[in-house]
Amino acid sequence: MQADDPARFDDAYYSRFYGETGAHDPERLAHLALAVHHMAAWWGITVRSVLDVGAGMGMWRDWYRAHHPTVHLQSIDVSPYACATWGHDHLDIADWRPSAPFDLVICHSVLQYVDEERVVRAIDHLGAATRHLLYLELPTTGDLMHIIDPERTDLHVFRRTARWYRQHLEMHFRQVGAGLWVPHHGVPMYELEASR
Ligand SMILES: C[S@@+](CC[C@H](N)C(=O)[O-])C[C@H]1O[C@@H](n2cnc3c(N)ncnc32)[C@H](O)[C@@H]1O
Repeated sequence: MQADDPARFDDAYYSRFYGETGAHDPERLAHLALAVHHMAAWWGITVRSVLDVGAGMGMWRDWYRAHHPTVHLQSIDVSPYACATWGHDHLDIADWRPSAPFDLVICHSVLQYVDEERVVRAIDHLGAATRHLLYLELPTTGDLMHIIDPERTDLHVFRRTARWYRQHLEMHFRQVGAGLWVPHHGVPMYELEASR
């Protein structure tokens, strides 16, 4: 099966890579979601809308629903199984460009599943989707060699270098760090707070 075949994201996949045997679970995710939400507040960003791209089990969407129920949420996923089970819109980020931006966009562990031909379009769509802040995480070639735990991480993915991703992301964003990116002409950052 191809790394980007939507049918591979099924019950077995989510059971294998989430929960006790996986990369993260709702409890760990809550630390990250709280930190991202509060960093946004620090920069004066009021998060009124969130787009969760490749939402999977919907942990980000559920955290926002529980802690900030007035925030407008949209979660999308390419997997028919995930959409039917956790209630996302069945959309592929490489094909779908939102008509209006969201204050915060989450793209957590998704782009490594998008093939060479389509990933640049997916990044362009993330650029169009983000009004204030993008949270992005994915394993690069270097991470897959040196950082990730091979027991807990899916290795059947597209491998690209950090340099490759930066080149394309920097068309739309400045890197803040810790997975956060701000659009060019977005909230002003001190020189040492974000890359140029
Ligand atoms: C590793 S899981 C991450 C789930 C979730 N973001 C999290 O971190 O808990 C990857 C998810 O991305 C979805 N996905 C893969 N390619 C996608 C695409 N092109 N558009 C939207 N979702 C995609 C998969 O169906 C799967 O649910």
